[in-house]
Amino acid sequence: MIRPKPTPNPWITAIRAYEPGRSRLGSGAVPIKLSANENPWGPSPAAIEMIRAHAHAVHRYPDGAAERLRQRIAVVHRLEVDRIVCGTGSDELLQLLPLIYCRPGDSVVHVRHGFMVYPIAARRAGAEPLAAPDRDYRADVESILLTVRDDTRIVYLANPNNPTGTMIGKGEVKRLHQGLRPDVILVIDQAYAEYLDDPDPDGGLALARTAANVVVTRTFSKIYGLGGLRVGWATGPAEIIRELNRVRTPFPIATVGLAAAEAAIADQEWVVRCREANRAERARLTEAIAALGNKGLRAVPSDANFVLMTCPEEGPLAAEAIKAGMESRGILVRWLPAQGLPHALRITVGTEEETSRVIDALNQLAA
Ligand SMILES: Cc1ncc(COP(=O)(O)O)c(C=O)c1O
Repeated sequence: MIRPKPTPNPWITAIRAYEPGRSRLGSGAVPIKLSANENPWGPSPAAIEMIRAHAHAVHRYPDGAAERLRQRIAVVHRLEVDRIVCGTGSDELLQLLPLIYCRPGDSVVHVRHGFMVYPIAARRAGAEPLAAPDRDYRADVESILLTVRDDTRIVYLANPNNPTGTMIGKGEVKRLHQGLRPDVILVIDQAYAEYLDDPDPDGGLALARTAANVVVTRTFSKIYGLGGLRVGWATGPAEIIRELNRVRTPFPIATVGLAAAEAAIADQEWVVRCREANRAERARLTEAIAALGNKGLRAVPSDANFVLMTCPEEGPLAAEAIKAGMESRGILVRWLPAQGLPHALRITVGTEEETSRVIDALNQLAA
């Protein structure tokens, strides 16, 4: 059939494009940006030094295989180098899996109130995203297993989850894996795992070492503070990693990104300091919200670097009103109607000073 004009595939036009956390205030003033779950303390100073040191080398293509970075990741996480693949953020790798394993008409399961990339990734491949109901903002293993259909090829689990901050433990993840058919890939997205003390808080890495259908993704965008450089990685069975290597972009990470990530992962002391500082500020923020419980605000207990705050449906403390009140005080937070949470805000944990500003703003708005 001759078409009158270029026509996109219908499964592509069904995509609701990703909306990043806002970075600017209408006034043009420099905001306190707590809308994108970035590390407010930034990367390790060693990483910044390496970015500077590599400025002279950017006319050369980077190492597309990220050999040295993969070696460092392998040592820190006790993994096989050949079973690690690096990508342009973990986003790239999360998005490639359905292109490899799904055909139009297949399905992909994710948890309701989850990361916006999963339905986009499914639709890019012509697959149908299926949202499994959660339970009080927490993934529910039974509900995920009930949502899986015969045509399901991939189950995504962000753990801790974005935007809820909740997570499920090792026993539940194991149960989820055991309940899946061997041809369904369980993708455990550990973007926020470094915010917990256990190096493998949900047992995902242990499963990825042994199971034939488990992939774990990680990122340098969160605790490592390198979101602007786009560095992520995945590990899993050799066969799946081989397919990812076949279709990933040839040079996924820029020279300075590789250099910075290599330095960042070598500085685990910085990671520990950021984890502890995040824990302290998250506790302060959570307590301040809890103290406003009589006004209808609630902080969902978080294991990550952000807190989901639920709000009354209407009135001066409705989510949209608080978002506007925060903005008028120079603070950007994330309102979540696109994730089915019009009554909630996601507030990234900031520095001590930023957290104090958020708490003051909340108390003023609730007064
Ligand atoms: C759950 C989850 N996975 C993955 C990512 C993307 O990370 P990257 O910057 O590595 O693409 C994010 C970023 O917000 C996230 O929240």
